[in-house]
Amino acid sequence: MRASGATLVLAVVAAAVLNAAVLCSGGFTSSFVRKVEKTVDMPLDSDVFEVPPGYNAPQQVHITQGDHIGKAVIVSWVTVDEPGSKLMTLNIYYEVGIGHTTRTFWFTTPPAVGPDVPYTFGLIGDLGQSYDSNRTLTHYERNPAKGQTVLFVGDLSYADNYPNHDNVRWDTWGRFVERSVAYQPWIWTAGNHEIDFAPDIGETKPFKPYTHRYRVPYKASDSTAPFWYSVKRASAYIIVLSSYSAYGKYTPQYKWLEDELPKVNRSETPWLIVLMHSPWYNSYNYHYMEGETMRVMYEPWFVQYKVDVVFAGHVHAYERSERVSNIAYNIVNGICSPVSDQSAPVYITIGDGGNLEGLATNMSEPQPKYSAFRGPASAMQRSLSRTGPMLTTVGTVTRMDMPYKLIPCGFSTDSGILLMILQLLNLEQLQSNGCI
Ligand SMILES: *[C@@H]1O[C@H](CO)[C@@H](O)[C@H](O)[C@H]1NC(C)=O
Ligand SMILES: *[C@@H]1O[C@H](CO)[C@@H](O)[C@H](O)[C@H]1NC(C)=O
Ligand SMILES: *[C@@H]1O[C@H](CO)[C@@H](O)[C@H](O)[C@H]1NC(C)=O
Ligand SMILES: [Fe+2]
Repeated sequence: MRASGATLVLAVVAAAVLNAAVLCSGGFTSSFVRKVEKTVDMPLDSDVFEVPPGYNAPQQVHITQGDHIGKAVIVSWVTVDEPGSKLMTLNIYYEVGIGHTTRTFWFTTPPAVGPDVPYTFGLIGDLGQSYDSNRTLTHYERNPAKGQTVLFVGDLSYADNYPNHDNVRWDTWGRFVERSVAYQPWIWTAGNHEIDFAPDIGETKPFKPYTHRYRVPYKASDSTAPFWYSVKRASAYIIVLSSYSAYGKYTPQYKWLEDELPKVNRSETPWLIVLMHSPWYNSYNYHYMEGETMRVMYEPWFVQYKVDVVFAGHVHAYERSERVSNIAYNIVNGICSPVSDQSAPVYITIGDGGNLEGLATNMSEPQPKYSAFRGPASAMQRSLSRTGPMLTTVGTVTRMDMPYKLIPCGFSTDSGILLMILQLLNLEQLQSNGCI
């Protein structure tokens, strides 16, 4: 298949439309529990992989934020024969393709960035394209909280599980998720399954299929590579980091992050969220300490700049940390255990979108003190009913020293493992929604 991708940046000039009804379904959770066993990928002839009809029809349409502040959208798609085409578009409805076959999609422009703007994110990681992946996406679409943007924490298609990293599986994945990502932005993070480094078959350039297919607005945040960047959306400042790019001192990612953190204006975006693929605090017996070297490099900054929450994937399970830091250690002083630290973020692993590798269930015992909650869906639900409707899965995000006291309300989870819905509300909005 001679596929050519096309990417255009659309300027969004229409006034922001914000859904005024803020749902606060704290404690909502579905009874769905993903089975522990490995699943299988949906076969190539599955309904969700169907090629849209028509000669050279644009397919795998996906959008993401196109600039730093949400006034532009990057629209990308793939056509089979002729090179991808010019965009003829309106601001909210957009049409891709030329001549023979065009297809129309739409999206809602985001609200202007500001501290009191409620917003709802979906969090998905490690999705893949199995039958369980399809269930995750369906759960997300049907979730009453109506996520407006997906924060995707890496590992998209798992095409690299196939011989020669079969790129057909990148295509099927693109067609599979189109039903969501053509209509709302997904903010991309690179995972290990995006590396596609395979010198044995002549592929010596890492991240090629991923970067060719999934554009991100990295230049808008002065980044020099698409693996680390930032966007503002509503009341949140979102920093995306790359677990699989160099992050040591003096590296481009390090220097970028060092310059980036002081730029965050918490009066404008009180929420500071970081996305990465490999978790720093993980007590499952999978990928144990893989995030450790990055933690050592960057954790002091996360505490200094009071990052609210760090989301990661990679481990196919759910885990939430206490607010802890482990930054006192200096090789000789022996102070090497995480300690409670109200300036530290909460770390959440949400790494099971349903890929074919199955659930991670093997945990280190006893549960380390830093780990506030981990476990399979059924346990998650029990824990929810104990904590009642004021579901603060993130714990209490009540930073008295922050200009705005924000509490995530309605961290509704579908099984607590597949995906998470994050609603950003300020204190007043919470009160008027009966959350506190
Ligand atoms: C995937 O999910 C959608 C929506 O629930 C459903 O219509 C479709 O049949 C499913 N496909 C497969 C292969 O499971
Ligand atoms: C921070 O944001 C606030 C609110 O938008 C604004 O009034 C203030 O000027 C900003 N501060 C800086 C240093 O840009
Ligand atoms: C769980 O992981 C530990 C440590 O890797 C291993 O020793 C143990 O056999 C595993 N248990 C199961 C049931 O797989
Ligand atoms: Fe991973």
